[in-house]
Amino acid sequence: MLKKIFKITGIVIAGIIALAGIAYLVIYINMSMRIATAYDHVNAEPIHVTYDSASIALGARLVSTRVCNECHGSDFGGRIMFEDGMIGRIVSRNITHGKGGLPDDFTESDWVMAIKHGLDRNKQPLLYMPANEFAEMSEGDIAAIIAYMSTIPNVDRENPSVKVGPLAYVLGMFDVIPVIPTEKIDHTKSFAQAVTPAATPEYGKYLAVVCTNCHGPQLKGRGPMIPGGSPIPDLTATGNPGKWSHGDFIKTLRTGIRPNGAKLADDMPWKMTLSFSEQELTAIHLYAQSLK
Ligand code: HEC
Ligand code: HEC
Repeated sequence: MLKKIFKITGIVIAGIIALAGIAYLVIYINMSMRIATAYDHVNAEPIHVTYDSASIALGARLVSTRVCNECHGSDFGGRIMFEDGMIGRIVSRNITHGKGGLPDDFTESDWVMAIKHGLDRNKQPLLYMPANEFAEMSEGDIAAIIAYMSTIPNVDRENPSVKVGPLAYVLGMFDVIPVIPTEKIDHTKSFAQAVTPAATPEYGKYLAVVCTNCHGPQLKGRGPMIPGGSPIPDLTATGNPGKWSHGDFIKTLRTGIRPNGAKLADDMPWKMTLSFSEQELTAIHLYAQSLK
């Protein structure tokens, strides 16, 4: 009798392992095909870039508020952002024209492809490059970034390439981590209308896109991004920040300490919001509070 039970248990366990193996294989094949897809039908809309001091100054601010420098490094030479055996390697590229960086003939259209479509110049998906957060930027803002980037000193740095690990295939499949952001973009849309900078929910919505990859499309929060990470709080009227004053909200993001004295965990990148003005943070707060 006991022998029989062991035998059945053994078969069940072997069955579960086999099923998990098959499920992983299916996910692996599906994700690999999506990563290798060429988006030949996507063409960059022509962009008008002016390389004057006003555009360059605007671009300098935008690379901070859109956190390009957070990932690509303050010198834009690229860096390994994360590496382990399960997730693999997340590497941003060298986006200067130094050794290991962009080719000399990298055009304005190539910039638009990367920023607005999340595709490289061969129309292959750029992995982990959050272009879905930038896709709805206005033409003027994208042009300003291109203008500013033309002024960046060259950095010679050869970075290793992105490597998708077994866990990243699975988490990417279920959209827990954004492996292929280009898939979230409506590539048929033209440049977004410019939004007037002001302390309004409309402007807040335009800016808060950089918060949505973690806090969710409606800023409602969600479970941890990676195993062992902090749960991500609701920022809207139904969450804690909904009850804070604008002053509390700004102070929390400037100091990393909440009104009740509790520190923000390290996985909330509050230092990235240091470059936002009070008007911009107020606008984000107004937008978050307008979401029920
Ligand atoms: C969350 C991190 C992150 C942020 C924020 C980010 N990038 Fe990237 N970017 C990446 C990664 C990772 C890659 C490389 C993808 C790959 O190798 O498949 C990349 C690739 C690129 C490329 C492609 C270069 C090439 O060889 O085609 C350009 C250009 C670029 N980023 C510009 C920007 C700009 C401009 C911004 C800000 C508006 C920005 N990135 C913000 C992570 C980021
Ligand atoms: C990389 C992911 C990530 C991004 C991007 C991000 N957050 Fe967070 N945020 C978190 C995590 C994780 C926490 C929870 C931290 C903790 O538990 O202490 C958090 C907490 C917060 C809190 C505290 C909420 C509370 O209830 O105490 C505020 C406010 C906040 N984020 C605002 C923002 C804003 C505004 C943006 C965009 C400008 C943003 N976050 C972008 C991950 C992120």
